Amino acid sequence: MKISILKIEDKVKEFYHKFHKKEGSDEIAAPATLQKLLNIIRRESVHSILEFGAGIGTITKFLLDNTSAHVTAYEHNPFCIQKMKENTNNDPRLTLITNPKEVVSGEYDLVVIDGGDIETIGNVLQGISPKHVVFEGYRWDAQRIVLNSVKGKRSISYEKLVDPDGGKGGYVMHLGEGRGGYTSARISLFNELRRKRGFYKLVRSSLKKLIRKHKKGN
Ligand SMILES: C[S@@+](CC[C@H](N)C(=O)[O-])C[C@H]1O[C@@H](n2cnc3c(N)ncnc32)[C@H](O)[C@@H]1O
Repeated sequence: MKISILKIEDKVKEFYHKFHKKEGSDEIAAPATLQKLLNIIRRESVHSILEFGAGIGTITKFLLDNTSAHVTAYEHNPFCIQKMKENTNNDPRLTLITNPKEVVSGEYDLVVIDGGDIETIGNVLQGISPKHVVFEGYRWDAQRIVLNSVKGKRSISYEKLVDPDGGKGGYVMHLGEGRGGYTSARISLFNELRRKRGFYKLVRSSLKKLIRKHKKGN
């Protein structure tokens, strides 16, 4: 697994703080996720994006502002739907889906997961071939279901996102052509380690060391 200590740009911090002032912003996406998305869309041409659990539209608006891609966003909460419409100014490049039965497979370069039911996520991921799946925060259940959907069909490499200022991180699965990357045995070992007491303490102290080193280097 690659650990990325992200340099969060002022532009991203400003966007986050602007959304954080909005009604219903208690659980919006953290700057680390927004920064990672920006890094991906700057590097690669992204035409179509699928977002699960769009909330009040923080990620949605960020993607619409920084790409010319079409964004399909899935959200079921009426309050969030209303707020998302307002926050994205009913952008014509946005398709809002409120019913899991309407989340159909399609061609997506990028998938972002910050909510949504894992059954729908699993079903949709079976039929699509994104290059990256970005998880806001841990989202272990969603990670497991995505892994099970793509395992054996795509090569997988994992990236852990770290905000050096202590904000929430996340994960990215990079999916390549062909098989390889994470095998079932490695996934089981990882899950087993996660269950062990002391594992998180070890991860946290290693991360702190890495962040100190990163800050010294800047
Ligand atoms: C953490 S919030 C998303 C925040 C959003 N990414 C943002 O930054 O504004 C998770 C969202 O997932 C939505 N959600 C949870 N379960 C869902 C489901 N079964 N179907 C659709 N949306 C769901 C919730 O309503 C909530 O808005």
